[in-house]
Amino acid sequence: LGQEMYYKNQVDSTQTIAHQLAREGADHGTVVVADEQLKGRGRLHRPWDSQKGKGIWMSLILRPDIEPQRAPQLTLASAVSITRMLEKVCQAEAKIKWPNDIFLNDRKLAGILTEMQAEQDLIEYVIIGMGINVNQVQEDIPLSLQDIATSVKIETGSSFQREALIQDVLKEIETVYDQFMEEGFSAVKPYWEKAAYRIGETVTVKTRNLKWDAVLVGIQEDGALIVEDQSGKREILYSAEIDWKRG
Ligand code: BTN
Repeated sequence: LGQEMYYKNQVDSTQTIAHQLAREGADHGTVVVADEQLKGRGRLHRPWDSQKGKGIWMSLILRPDIEPQRAPQLTLASAVSITRMLEKVCQAEAKIKWPNDIFLNDRKLAGILTEMQAEQDLIEYVIIGMGINVNQVQEDIPLSLQDIATSVKIETGSSFQREALIQDVLKEIETVYDQFMEEGFSAVKPYWEKAAYRIGETVTVKTRNLKWDAVLVGIQEDGALIVEDQSGKREILYSAEIDWKRG
C-alpha cells in the first residue's frame, strides 16, 4: 500500500480525487493525502473539519476480490489498524465505536468513510477515507465540537509528524488487510473486540426510522452489530448509529 502516493496542498475532499483516480484505473494501494480539505466529508453527509496541517486527511484505494456486502468489514479492519498505530506509535489507547469512529478518552479522534463502486457482484474499487486529528490544540477545535472531538496532541500532549504517522498507519493496514484477505474477517474480529467501546453498556441505537435503548453485545462473525433490548431480545444491525449520554 502507498506505492503510489498523491500529496496535495488543498483539495475539496481526498475522497473525490480518489474516486477520479480509481475510475481512471489507479492501482490497488494508491493513496491520496491532503494538507487541507475545503469540503471534507464524513458519514451521513456530515462535514469533516480538515484544517491545514493539523491532521491526516487521506483516502486509500483498494481493489479487494471479495463480495460487495463484505465491504463494511474493511471499515472495521481499518479502524483496528488506526487503533494499532495509535497504541504503538502514540502510546494512546483508543477505542472503536461501531462502525467507524475512533475515540480517545471519550471524545472522537478519528473517523472512517468507506465508499464503494460495485457492478453487480463485483467490487470495482473501495475507497477508505480516514481522518485523524493529530496536532490540533484545544483552540483549533471548532466551538460546536469542543465536547465531542479531540486530537492526539490534546490527549497525549505530544505533537507528531503526520508523514511518519501516515507510513505507520499504512503499515498497520497492510498487515491487517493481508490477514483479512487470507483468513477472513474472523482473523480481525479479536482485535476489534479488544478495542471495542462500551460493550456491555446501554446505549441509544438509531436506525433509519427507529430509536431505542439497548445493550451493546458485540459484533457477529461478519462484522454486524449485535444489540439486546431490555427483554433480552437480540437484534442484528448492518446499518445504525449508536450514541450515549455524555456528561
Ligand atoms: C466520519 O467520521 O464520519 C468519517 C470521517 C472521514 C474523514 C476523512 S478525511 C479524508 C477523507 N476525505 C474526506 O472528505 N473524508 C475522509
